[in-house]
Amino acid sequence: MRHILILGGTSEARQLAGRLADRRDLKVTLSLAGRTAHPAAQPVPVRVGGFGGADGLAAYLADQRIDVLVDATHPYAATMAAHAAEAAARTKVPIVALRRKAWTAIAGDNWTEVDDIGGAVAALGATPRRVFLAIGRKEVGAFAAASQHDYLIRSVDPVEPPLDVPRAAYIVARGPFSEGDESALLKQHRIEVVVAKNSGGKATKGKIAAARALGIKVVMLRRPALPDVPAADTVQDAVAWLDHVPAPSADRGV
Ligand SMILES: NC(=O)c1ccc[n+]([C@@H]2O[C@H](COP(=O)([O-])OP(=O)(O)OC[C@H]3O[C@@H](n4cnc5c(N)ncnc54)[C@H](OP(=O)(O)O)[C@@H]3O)[C@@H](O)[C@H]2O)c1
Repeated sequence: MRHILILGGTSEARQLAGRLADRRDLKVTLSLAGRTAHPAAQPVPVRVGGFGGADGLAAYLADQRIDVLVDATHPYAATMAAHAAEAAARTKVPIVALRRKAWTAIAGDNWTEVDDIGGAVAALGATPRRVFLAIGRKEVGAFAAASQHDYLIRSVDPVEPPLDVPRAAYIVARGPFSEGDESALLKQHRIEVVVAKNSGGKATKGKIAAARALGIKVVMLRRPALPDVPAADTVQDAVAWLDHVPAPSADRGV
């Protein structure tokens, strides 16, 4: 029986685990960073918490006799992705990255693409605007440097401490979010700029489509550089990859 470790924290990781859960030829473990207070239920056994860098992950792969590693973390989890690639290379455990395709701008979109959070803060400009931050809570603090804006901030868990600006409202919610609901939210809060990550997939695309329809500008954070490992765009492709990956070689040292 092959033991598969899925690095998760995304809906695709959960869906992949669901697709593999009943397979008698596989043992599947899903790993979460442990960031969210109330993580979604998972269809396979879960382990929680960091591994302790690439070294810790390599040791885990060996100790748990992992046969295949699936990096199904979010496309902005660049540190974990780098550690996964390094640990897999070192232990000779086959790896595949499950990554949603990035969104691309289409007619009607008004995107300003930026490389990092500093760029996103700068792209808001000096004139006060009503801004919807839909980037998770980890990097929200950088927007304290642009306290002239009104912020609406949505995250899965509360932003603690709150953003140090005079005007900020908070929504704690987990996707998926429909275009209709996103459109109503943008109108209700009279949003002028949406700040988003290029997450790809359907679950959070509603705000992008709603912004397009309403003529609202989107400041889009470009994806970080990710390691060059075999990749699958969809859960189905990842399953196909897993079914064709050669059996681990005896000399891989795990
Ligand atoms: N970044 C985003 O925008 C975003 C959005 C949605 C969901 N997520 C999910 O949230 C989690 C954390 O994301 P992040 O951006 O903070 O990651 P990150 O910056 O790339 O990772 C930081 C550290 O968190 C630990 N870690 C991350 N993912 C892990 C996993 N699946 N299992 C065990 N440890 C993990 C690792 O600690 P050690 O070095 O100690 O192993 C890693 O070095 C990930 O599971 C990701 O899929 C992230």
